[in-house]
Amino acid sequence: MHVLVTAGPTREPIDPVRFISNRSSGKMGYAVAAAFAARGHEVVLVSGPVALAAPAGVSRVQVQTADEMLAAVSARLEWCGALVMAAAVADWRPRRAAAAKLKKAAMPVALELEAAPDILRALAERKGGRVFVGFAAETGDPLPEARRKLREKKLDLIVANDVSRAGSGFEADTNKVTLLPAGGAPIDLPLMSKRGVAERIAEWVLDRAAGASAAAAET
Ligand code: PMT
Repeated sequence: MHVLVTAGPTREPIDPVRFISNRSSGKMGYAVAAAFAARGHEVVLVSGPVALAAPAGVSRVQVQTADEMLAAVSARLEWCGALVMAAAVADWRPRRAAAAKLKKAAMPVALELEAAPDILRALAERKGGRVFVGFAAETGDPLPEARRKLREKKLDLIVANDVSRAGSGFEADTNKVTLLPAGGAPIDLPLMSKRGVAERIAEWVLDRAAGASAAAAET
């Protein structure tokens, strides 16, 4: 299978030396890419800036901003059979990035923000028979927001994680997630390594893709 995975944060520039970003280390998305590659699938990993090496057998495309991530994913969408969006893409960005470093004395009293592109929403119409997986990072019970994002972003599966729990979410080596399939029962996983979570996601995606191709062969 051809699998497109995103990982890490995006950086939205304020000026050439400053940006808005978030705490994503890329560990979760890189573990997903590694899990598919270890099973012999062809993986392209679209990655924001992180301090990780590309997993063995994975082809990596490095990006900085939400616009660049959208362009990189969009260009490879037809190629892939599954898209797993583990990246923490910026929701907002400065409306204008200064061309030169802003002087300390010229501190802006406020930053004017605008919405960054929502990659999953932008690509939903081109989904076709592909398997789309998103993540929902929430502080507190992630399930209500995860269900909303699953529906509104037209996903097959959303991985709900409470990023305020110890050992879960951003930067940790472990994660505590619930897999929420569209139209299926939630699968609550215990706290486990990100690689363990990634294996469960890969199994779900591959089962789903195999089920879809068996159904197509019968018709
Ligand atoms: O990188 P780590 O340090 O290992 O941390 C892992 C993680 C916490 C980043 C990861 O497990 C995770 O939850 N990733 C998704 C973070 C996020 O942006 O969640 P969200 O609820 O804001 O977004 C929902 C979904 O829409 C996500 O699949 C996201 O990739 C996607 N999205 C979000 C914003 C945007 N502008 N475009 C998008 O496509």
